[in-house]
Amino acid sequence: MENQNITFKQLNDDEQVPYELLLLADPSIEMIEEYLKSSFIFIVAQNNKIVGVIVLFPLSEDLVEIKNIAVEPEFQGQGIGSYLIENIIKVAIEQGYKEICIGTANSSIGQLYLYQKLGFELYEIKKNFFILHYPDKILENGIQAKHMIVLKRQL
Ligand code: ACO
Repeated sequence: MENQNITFKQLNDDEQVPYELLLLADPSIEMIEEYLKSSFIFIVAQNNKIVGVIVLFPLSEDLVEIKNIAVEPEFQGQGIGSYLIENIIKVAIEQGYKEICIGTANSSIGQLYLYQKLGFELYEIKKNFFILHYPDKILENGIQAKHMIVLKRQL
């Protein structure tokens, strides 16, 4: 992302949380509200308009999780998702974490591709996670979202 009108920064407490974006990655507002209590939100803005969001959730002294990543639909496929992950990796390293993880559904084929391309490796399967935690059936790419695939990257 060489465009100089693009900025990456942590969202301040007095700034509005971009819920519409967060809901693109996670259809449960209840789950979002719950993890936001202990998370740090970072955004990417283009010409002062928020076009992407990424949420960092500490799991331990060494391990931090990307709980949510989303890019405005009309801005997807332009490298902003990769830019968000590359920048959040820098933040995690600066903050002293040793590992970063991200979980996505078995049906999220594009996301599984993107995360592995950026150095995340398959780590764990949380069986039936989306069936147990989400009331509505989630379909993606013609596949039901049932299991959460957790990927991890060393920092
Ligand atoms: N389907 C197919 N390919 C994809 C997808 C997808 N959903 N997402 C990314 N890719 C591919 C791109 O084609 C691109 O491939 P290339 O490098 O070979 O050209 C590569 O991944 C990088 O794409 P970017 O342009 O950097 O990513 P983008 O800005 O589109 O952001 C994101 C990716 C955040 C997943 C975006 O598609 C999005 O907001 N999707 C809806 C919300 C979502 O699913 N979030 C993730 C849920 S999991 C979680 O939040 C922990």
